[in-house]
Amino acid sequence: MQFPETPVPEQEGNTLLYDAEYKEMLNAYGKVQYLYEAGIDFVRSRLEALNNEFRVRHSHNPIHHIQTRVKTPQSISRKLKKSGIPVSMTNAKKNLRDIAGVRVVCCYVEDIFTVAQLLTSQDDVQLIEEKNYIKHPKENGYRSLHLVVDVPVYLSAGKVYIPVEVQIRTVAMDFWASLEHNLRYKAEEEVPPFIVNELKKCADIITETDARMEQIFHAMSLLRDRAPEDVAPRDDD
Ligand code: GTP
Ligand code: MG
Repeated sequence: MQFPETPVPEQEGNTLLYDAEYKEMLNAYGKVQYLYEAGIDFVRSRLEALNNEFRVRHSHNPIHHIQTRVKTPQSISRKLKKSGIPVSMTNAKKNLRDIAGVRVVCCYVEDIFTVAQLLTSQDDVQLIEEKNYIKHPKENGYRSLHLVVDVPVYLSAGKVYIPVEVQIRTVAMDFWASLEHNLRYKAEEEVPPFIVNELKKCADIITETDARMEQIFHAMSLLRDRAPEDVAPRDDD
C-alpha cells in the first residue's frame, strides 16, 4: 500500500516539467530509484518477520498495517527548492533522508516502542535519527515516532547503505494525521485559529482513546491468560 505524497502545485503550471535542472534530476532519479525501493523492502521484510513472530509467541500482532513510498521526483525537487538547494539527485542523496519512507501503523502505543526497539536493535540496522512526537507532540497535536535508519542493500559491486524514514504511529494517530494533512493541504489560505484549536482538541481525545484502548487490551489479555474455569461460569455453579 502506498502512502500519499503531498500533491505538487508546481505541476499545475507545468513550470517544473520544462526545467532543464529538473529533467536532469528526473533522469538520475530513474537510475537510483531501485536502491530506495530495496531499502524499503529490507525494512518491510524485517517488520513483517517481527510481526509474524509476535503473532506466534504472544498471540498479538503489534503491526496493523504498513504503507511505503519512494518520494516522487516532484516532491524531491520541491523540498530541495524550499531549502534553497539546487535541484539534483546528488543533492537529494546528500540532504534528504526521507526519499525512502515506511509508515508502520500499530495497534497500541506500546507496540510502537516495541517495534522501534526490535527494529533498531538488529545489528545491520543503524539508527541515524529519532524524533519522538509521542513524548513531545507537535503544537498542533501531531503524534508519531519518527526514525531514520540506514539499512544495507547488496549490489553486484558491494554493499551500500540507504537511509529509510520510518514513521510509527497507532491507527488512531494515523487517522488524525491523514485527515489533518488533507484538511491543511486543501485549505487555500492559512488555517484559521479556531480550526487549529479544534484539531488539537481532536488530537487530545485521540491520545486519551489510545490510552483507554490499551487498558482494554491489557484487561482482555489478563482474562485470556487465566484458566477458563476462572472466568467462565460453569453450568453446575
Ligand atoms: P519534512 O521532512 O520536510 O516534512 O520536515 P522534517 O524532517 O522536519 O519533518 P518531520 O520529521 O517532523 O516530519 C516528516 C513527516 O512527518 C512529514 O512529511 C509528514 O509525513 C509527517 N508529519 C510531520 N508533522 C506533521 C503534522 O503536523 N501533520 C501531519 N499530518 N503529518 C506530519
Ligand atoms: Mg523529514
